[in-house]
Amino acid sequence: MYGMAHRALRQMMVDRLGPAVWARIERETSTGPADLISLCVYDDSKTLALISASATHLGLPVDEALRDFGRYWVRYAELSSFGPIMDFTGQDLVTFINNLDRMHRSVVLAMPDARVPSFTLLDETDGRLLVRYRSDRTGLETFVIGLLEGLMDRLGEAGEVGVASREGNAIDFAIRLDRN
Ligand code: HEM
Repeated sequence: MYGMAHRALRQMMVDRLGPAVWARIERETSTGPADLISLCVYDDSKTLALISASATHLGLPVDEALRDFGRYWVRYAELSSFGPIMDFTGQDLVTFINNLDRMHRSVVLAMPDARVPSFTLLDETDGRLLVRYRSDRTGLETFVIGLLEGLMDRLGEAGEVGVASREGNAIDFAIRLDRN
């Protein structure tokens, strides 16, 4: 993954546990400044090693740390140079999800080696959205849950996100919105 993800994780960990803990994580994973360049691409194993060391320090299972990181990523991205792109992508959840692939395509213009996922809104009924996620990566299910939760926070929605079904490289997520 692009180093932007590593920098976002560093920021999350510094915010939560302070710079000394991040320094320990860097030592434990043999990470240095050369692994934290926003526009460099690193093997996913590097990203996963950083997440799993962070999870240990947070006292969380890796999946829970990934979910927290997904939520954090939305806030991190909106403060980055991609903030305006997020504003254009949508001001409500349905519009945002429908434009998410277009948004990632514009990210790819700046980061040509990014392997971005694809999201499709399959259904919207009575405050329940069904969203299909496709990716050539595996193991990021809870990251996606965190991202969708972060998006809901950003757009003033509350509710629950869960996995509805899995098939091949596709996972369908159900979002139940609290609306009265
Ligand atoms: C401005 C906001 C965003 C930016 C700049 C951004 C950018 C990126 C970048 C650079 C990657 C890494 C690709 C790589 O290095 O190969 C990525 C991956 C990913 N993005 Fe986004 N993204 C944003 C918002 C979102 C949102 C809101 C979602 C979902 C709701 C999302 C879902 C994902 C997922 C799941 C991945 C992991 C890759 C995979 O599943 O294969 N992103 N994104």
